[in-house]
Amino acid sequence: MGEFVVRGRSRLEGTLKIHGAKNAALPIMAASVLASGPVVLSGVPKLRDVDVMIEVLRSLGARVQWDDTTLTIDPSDIHQYVIPQELMMKMRASIFVIGPLLAKLGHAVAMQPGGCSIGDRPIDIHVYGFSQLGAEVTETEEGTRLDGPELKAATVHLSYPSVGATENLMMAAALIEGETRIRNAAMEPEIVDLAQFLEKMGAVVRGAGTPDIRVVGQRELKGASHTIIPDRIEAATFMLAAAASGGHVMLENCIIEHLPGLTGRLRDLGVELTEREGDRVEVQAPDVYDTVPVSLHTGPYPGFATDIQAQFMAFLLNVPGVHIISERVFENRLGHARELRRLGAQIMADQRVALSYVGRTVHGAYVEALYLRDGAALVIAGLTTEGETVITGREIVYRGYQDLDLRLNQLGADIVRR
Ligand code: EPZ
Repeated sequence: MGEFVVRGRSRLEGTLKIHGAKNAALPIMAASVLASGPVVLSGVPKLRDVDVMIEVLRSLGARVQWDDTTLTIDPSDIHQYVIPQELMMKMRASIFVIGPLLAKLGHAVAMQPGGCSIGDRPIDIHVYGFSQLGAEVTETEEGTRLDGPELKAATVHLSYPSVGATENLMMAAALIEGETRIRNAAMEPEIVDLAQFLEKMGAVVRGAGTPDIRVVGQRELKGASHTIIPDRIEAATFMLAAAASGGHVMLENCIIEHLPGLTGRLRDLGVELTEREGDRVEVQAPDVYDTVPVSLHTGPYPGFATDIQAQFMAFLLNVPGVHIISERVFENRLGHARELRRLGAQIMADQRVALSYVGRTVHGAYVEALYLRDGAALVIAGLTTEGETVITGREIVYRGYQDLDLRLNQLGADIVRR
């Protein structure tokens, strides 16, 4: 596994443009399966996970090509409805093609996606939703087989506002005539972006961004062009890196409204966040943070996003005080607390709660990225730690962050690939 060598302390300064959102691009790429003609997507980030989704689409028979940051997907020859197991194991988000395949071909087969370091990540809510639309579900040695040549519009109530299940069902419903209603739906901005794309293809979608989504599907959906929304998790990551390092950074292509759970907390702690015209946000960190206790828990949008919990914990190492973080979305997403302890941070953590009762890390160390978001958190910690921090698992970080090290170096960081 490649490494990042981070030499701290660095103070970040300068301007950075945020890329298109990984978690919007992946479902929208999957939704292209529904179209009868080519789809052109702009602002798609160059990430390992995007590469895997391209492999999945090609394995189904689609033609996919890059042209700079524009991706053209021609789904007209898609005929395969079994997702190759090795691709399912590479990336859970491969599950996003199940809904479109089921609606388009009447069948779909997917093995249970591999769990990962943050949790078991079952697909029961997805499967329940498809069964409510009339699909027959059978477990085979290939995986979960869904057969539904005659899907029917229905009302589906999700037991939890699962982002992926909401998106999968929206996509299937877009090719089912009549009105499908999804109750207790996820409300993330990526859901709204997918809805806008489905509407461009000819579906009618109402209520995206609320817990009650209605999709009126069509017998056929046409190809369309779409620009992916900015990546709010990448923006939050750079915002927290600037805040942790006492920096002053201008983020371009950044929609502050997409970060309701974070911005208020940073402002309360003394970070100046100023919206500038043209989707820009200016971040000015204080030189020193006052001693203050912070208690937060993650939750579905518009709550505090689980995808920035690790980065926020790394930022908190610069805020003296007693802090409690409760991870309520995934059952095992605090592994980075152990890695931060190696830097001298004093953090106690069990599966769901972490307690940090003294600020500041005291030395560099060898640490390991277990998942892409905690890898970014360890880079943030390395920026604000005296000495050299070596982070193994560079490739894991590139799953979700295009050139994270090079872009932080443009802002004054000192990070070397090894
Ligand atoms: C999406 O994952 C994101 N991934 C995740 O980002 C993000 O953390 C998550 O939503 C929550 O916001 C993409 O969009 C590609 P969920 P998803 O279904 O759809 C449980 C990142 O770092 N659950 O909302 O898989 C599940 O185990 C990634 O970019 C079931 O029990 O998340 C989890 O505890 C990480 N059964 C909770 O719900 C199901 O059928 C939330 O999962 C589905 C989910």
